[in-house]
Order: sequence, then structure tokens, then C-alpha cells
Amino acid sequence: MNLPFRVNLEGKVIVVTGGSGVLGSAFCEALAECGAKVAIIGRTEQKVQQLATVINGNGGTAIGLAANVMDKSELENAREKIQLEFGTCDILINGAGGNHPKGTTDLEYFNQGDLQKDVRTFFDLDEEGINYVFQLNFLGTLLPSQVFGRDMVEKKSGTIINISSMNAFSPLTKIPAYSGAKAAVSNFTQWLAVHMSKAGVRVNAIAPGFFLTDQNRSLLLKKEGLLTERAEKIIAQTPMARFGEGQELIGTLLWLVDDRASGFVNGVVVPVDGGFSAYSGV
Ligand SMILES: NC(=O)c1ccc[n+]([C@@H]2O[C@H](COP(=O)([O-])OP(=O)(O)OC[C@H]3O[C@@H](n4cnc5c(N)ncnc54)[C@H](OP(=O)(O)O)[C@@H]3O)[C@@H](O)[C@H]2O)c1
Repeated sequence: MNLPFRVNLEGKVIVVTGGSGVLGSAFCEALAECGAKVAIIGRTEQKVQQLATVINGNGGTAIGLAANVMDKSELENAREKIQLEFGTCDILINGAGGNHPKGTTDLEYFNQGDLQKDVRTFFDLDEEGINYVFQLNFLGTLLPSQVFGRDMVEKKSGTIINISSMNAFSPLTKIPAYSGAKAAVSNFTQWLAVHMSKAGVRVNAIAPGFFLTDQNRSLLLKKEGLLTERAEKIIAQTPMARFGEGQELIGTLLWLVDDRASGFVNGVVVPVDGGFSAYSGV
């Protein structure tokens, strides 16, 4: 990977949840290239193993572990394996997250007559879908912070990076559950930063703008690869007029994980968004 700059993470044990995802895998590769021992956590065993093989093949050090971030006992099992293999966790990246179609309305606005149409309105949103999105994004950030943050307070040093979203600043249409859950992630970032501030653990978040990945591909691209109406609106609202590339989050990630570079940065949510959150649309 072409790193924007190098920080020294030699010997650091870094746990990346959602590490096999599009953004997460870029994080894992960059961290490994800086010398970290990377524990990749994801849902699918085959995906985490595949990425670990690639990183190890490139001279890095990584292991893959299948664990559900919504299940504390699975995370505890993963922690035991990581300790045996690498030692205790120094840095946690809470990258697992995403939306669910059952927590998504079909239309941006409710119009009279929609109840009679075959569309998923706000009134049809499914409780289970909404619950899943909150569990995955909020609980799925809180539980790993409990499980791996324990290692950090014991050695009075460490850092946690959460992954928030543009939705956290102002909600996007159609996705109330994902918007609310990411707002909760940003809020929790501040809460935990304050709570851990006497324990030597810093907590910050990155709020990516729009990056084309598996979780949003069907919302942004038509089958023929053309932009959907929603994607065109996003590009129009992004002053830099394009989607981001996973690589473009790496500089912010490396800055935030490195105590020498960001040792006094605590409780912030950094947008990396091509100007999306700064632009009012006028
Ligand atoms: N892409 C964007 O434009 C964008 C923008 C803002 C924020 N984000 C956030 O950035 C993070 C990464 O997103 P991405 O786009 O890289 O997503 P992605 O490619 O869909 O990857 C999601 C990752 O999370 C894992 N995961 C999902 N549910 C899990 C669970 N219950 N337990 C453990 N791991 C689980 C997935 O594992 P499997 O593959 O095995 O399911 C995968 O590794 C997410 O928090 C997302 O909300 C993305």
C-alpha cells in the first residue's frame, strides 16, 4: 500500500473490527505496514483469514478471527486468542457497522397516498431491522470497547478509534436507524473519551463521507454501473465532486493512532468527506 506517511507501530497489537470490509481492510493493511500486529475481526471466517494471508504474505503480521461484535462472549473468546498469539490489545479500531434494508424507507418524503402504494414508508419500518442497525453500530462499538479497552486501562495506555458517518451530523433521508445509530457512535466517542481520560486511553472517531463499498453499492450504483439519483445528489452535495477512496482515510487513521502525533487529541470526530459536512448546498 502506498502510505501517505509512516508512523512507528512496531510491536503494537491492533484489533480492527470489520477489518475484512472495504474500509477496514485498507486500515489493516496500512497498520500492518507500519509494523503493528493486526487482529482482523469480521463475521465471515473465510474473509478474515483471506486478508490475514495477504498481509502475512506481504511481510506483515496478522491473524483473522470470526466474531460477532454484538456478542460479548464471542469477543471475549477472540480476546483470549489474540492474547495468546500477540499479547494484550494496544489499539482498537471499531470499524464494523452498516445499515439494513428493513430500517430504510423507499422514499425520501412521505406523500399523501403512500400508505395505499406498494412502498416501504416510515410506518412500515421493521422493529427488528431498526434494532439490528442499533445493535450493530452502537452496541457493536460499545462491546468491543469494553472487551479490548480493559487491556488498555490495565497498562494505562491505548487508543480507540470509532467509525462514525456523515449521518451523525445531520441525518440522511431514508435511513433513520443508521443515522441515529451513527449519531450514537459519535456521542459515545465523546462520552468514552471523557470517561477514560484519567486512565491513559484516548478515544476519537473518523466520520467518512461517501466511499463506494459493499454496504452502500446498491444504493449508489445502478446495475449498469451508472450513478443512482441518490449518488448524483451526494456528488452534487460534495464540493470535491467525487466519492472518496479507502486510501484517503489512512492519513487520518495513522495520525489518530499515533500518540506522538495526536497525544492531546481526544473526543473528536474527524470528517473525511471532501467538504460534504461543510456545505449547506447553497
Ligand atoms: N462506505 C462508506 O461510504 C461509509 C461511510 C461512512 C461510514 N462508514 C462506516 O465505515 C465502517 C466500514 O464500512 P465499509 O463500507 O467498509 O463496510 P463493508 O465493506 O460492508 O464491511 C463491513 C465489515 O464489518 C463486518 N461486520 C458486519 N457485521 C458484523 C458483525 N455483526 N460482527 C463482526 N463484524 C461485522 C463485515 O464482516 P463480513 O464481511 O464478514 O460481513 C465487514 O468486515 C462501517 O462502520 C460503516 O458504517 C462507511
